[in-house]
Amino acid sequence: MFKNNCLKFILLSLSFICLNVSAQKDIDTKVQKLLKKMTLEEKIGQMVQLNGFWDFTGPAPKDGDGAKWKYDALKSGKVGSVLNVRGVKNVRQLQEMVVNESRLGIPLIFGFDVIHGHKTVFPIPLAESASWDLDAMENAARIAAIEASAEGLNWTFAPMVDISRDARWGRVMEGAGEDPYLASEVAKARVKGFQGKDLSDDNTLAACAKHFVGYGFAESGKDYNAVDVGTSTLYNVLLPPFQACIDANVRTFMNAFNTLNGIPATGDDFLQRDILKGKWNFDGFVVSDWGSISEMQAHGFAKDLKDAGIIAANAGCDMDMESYAYVGHLKEAVEEGTVAEALIDDAAARILKVKFELGLFDDPYKYCDTKKEKELLYHPDHKKAALDMAKKSIVLLKNEGNLLPLDKKQKNIAIIGALADEDNSPLGNWRLGTDNNTAVSFLEGFKKYTDNYSYEKGVDIFLKAEDFLHEVEVNNTDKSGIDAAVALAKKSEVVIMVLGEHGYQSGEGRSRANLDLPGLQKKMLKEVYKVNKNIILVLMNGRPLTIDWEAENIPAILETWQLGTESGNAIAETLFGDNIPGGKLTMTFPRTEGQVPIYYNYLNTGRPGPIDLVFWSHYTDETNAPLYPFGYGLSYTDFAYDNMKVVNNGNNIQVSVNVKNTGNYDGSEVVQLYIRDKVASVSRPVKELKGFEKIFLKKGENKTVNFTLTEKELGFYNNRGDFVVEPGDFDVMVGTSSLEGLSDSFEWK
Ligand code: GLC
Repeated sequence: MFKNNCLKFILLSLSFICLNVSAQKDIDTKVQKLLKKMTLEEKIGQMVQLNGFWDFTGPAPKDGDGAKWKYDALKSGKVGSVLNVRGVKNVRQLQEMVVNESRLGIPLIFGFDVIHGHKTVFPIPLAESASWDLDAMENAARIAAIEASAEGLNWTFAPMVDISRDARWGRVMEGAGEDPYLASEVAKARVKGFQGKDLSDDNTLAACAKHFVGYGFAESGKDYNAVDVGTSTLYNVLLPPFQACIDANVRTFMNAFNTLNGIPATGDDFLQRDILKGKWNFDGFVVSDWGSISEMQAHGFAKDLKDAGIIAANAGCDMDMESYAYVGHLKEAVEEGTVAEALIDDAAARILKVKFELGLFDDPYKYCDTKKEKELLYHPDHKKAALDMAKKSIVLLKNEGNLLPLDKKQKNIAIIGALADEDNSPLGNWRLGTDNNTAVSFLEGFKKYTDNYSYEKGVDIFLKAEDFLHEVEVNNTDKSGIDAAVALAKKSEVVIMVLGEHGYQSGEGRSRANLDLPGLQKKMLKEVYKVNKNIILVLMNGRPLTIDWEAENIPAILETWQLGTESGNAIAETLFGDNIPGGKLTMTFPRTEGQVPIYYNYLNTGRPGPIDLVFWSHYTDETNAPLYPFGYGLSYTDFAYDNMKVVNNGNNIQVSVNVKNTGNYDGSEVVQLYIRDKVASVSRPVKELKGFEKIFLKKGENKTVNFTLTEKELGFYNNRGDFVVEPGDFDVMVGTSSLEGLSDSFEWK
């Protein structure tokens, strides 16, 4: 019986693979057949992406988005894609124009930033990653694809898989933190969610691995700044999440604004041709970032727009997002021989292939279903999933004296903070697809549990909480509001302070040199603390903050990030114990900005110290230790680890540990496994995450968790970019964070 089932499974898998291979061959044949019919201008047309006429997500071009020339270009088949056009009516209008009026009727592909949800907004990606729940993150991306495709879209510029160790950089909110192993697992989950099981289904989106590569290592955390990294960091930290997207069959890549070691990524043939299309054999297409081709002039890498277009096309950038280099100069470049037509053929073929895979040639209007649009956007089931994701993303940082969870009968509660009454900020940044003010605010969620509270806004934090394109203006002077907050706190039994950043204080173009609570919030908190120490701090922020004073003095701290549409409900359920927080940080919290970049998987250096003399790697005015480490997060319950076992089977290492719920609540725990390669041909980090399992244990219950380490986990990339596995001694730790667990060691022969 068992043998028959195995045989059936093998035959089924083989037939699936054969079907897939033949489908791909069929598409390749169609692509080549169509390519032969196309003129040079039409092939270049596929390589042109123009911004739509409704929104834009970058510096608007001088002649505006509604320029007549764009319509003319669309009708004459000189445009292959548009971005920021959504809504079935708008998509259909543009698609009909192109399909009916251009010579070959090649359908457009419609791209949009579907980053963490679309109409129903999920937690910002940094928050989602703190759930360590890959299935939940895949489901969140799946729902985002369902809603975005219902609006006519078929391509998302996500997942952003940039590793970052620098909370000053505003776009940390968009990624999965500092660790390449976790970020790779998250990247795969998100690509699978967006692309679904079959890209030709009408509720899928082609995903886009971005920004290739190194954007998260912008010097000084300043957006768009230069990036310089060595070979080991490039191969062992920055590239793995992009490789993971390839493993998940991601269909597009987006290159990065930054220079990598002096070369703008958009014009870097080592990255795009040698690694991506060569070593990794990527068969999808690469789009530039907004205007990044044109920006090679500012980089001092191209002398004019035509030169920039030539460099980008030769370097492997298949599509030009909004710099007009390709539409304006590529034909001339081919005619003069500075760009080979074969490269144009390859780029156009890649783009056509994805359009065929999406089914756009079978039915250019398959994403234009007004009934679906009406039914699926903001669907209640989607909100339920967003609530679940939000609850799993919350991280309990401190809970001295078990102040949390609150008793549902608790009376005389003070709620203080402008963010408590915010229904827009909790949506976070990069939520262009939704409508403003659609989040459940903290207060709306809270009052579902009790009316035994009074509210004071306190200081007005954001004088002008602008929008996606403009700065948030922060109040740094007007103290009015503090007195009322202090007066309320004085007469209350427990104080909940809801403080943090506005959703538009992180994201693109939002780097901060100071990582404290913005404005006068900390001052207000300290004034309140003078009259009532029974404080629960609820943080709403898009990046790690330097909350060292708060961590020292405030008894309970709940990190709630920007949790999206269901924010207020998720926080209230957690405060009152209907949700037991189980999130774990995926990015280190620094004590001060001076420690940044700070991360757990650092190199030991030759002088790790501490020693009595000054000659070791440290600060004279601050500890090396983070405020909160990678992988850290508490629960209302407690977990005990024991009985760690390490068995060396020769070709793999089995590690097991017993985890017991020793507290008073059922709860989830992320069991993490770290290794250290003690001696290698390249200095290796003091710790590297190489496995994790999120488990749920009822109180009193225990479970043995097993991990297997193979060459894949024990190897690394050497300075020639080769993956190597070297014999030697390894430490292994299994625990509740990157700093706490049981340790053992083994020898890999
Ligand atoms: C932006 C971002 C990129 C986004 C693109 C289109 O500048 O860098 O992540 O996908 O433009 O909006």
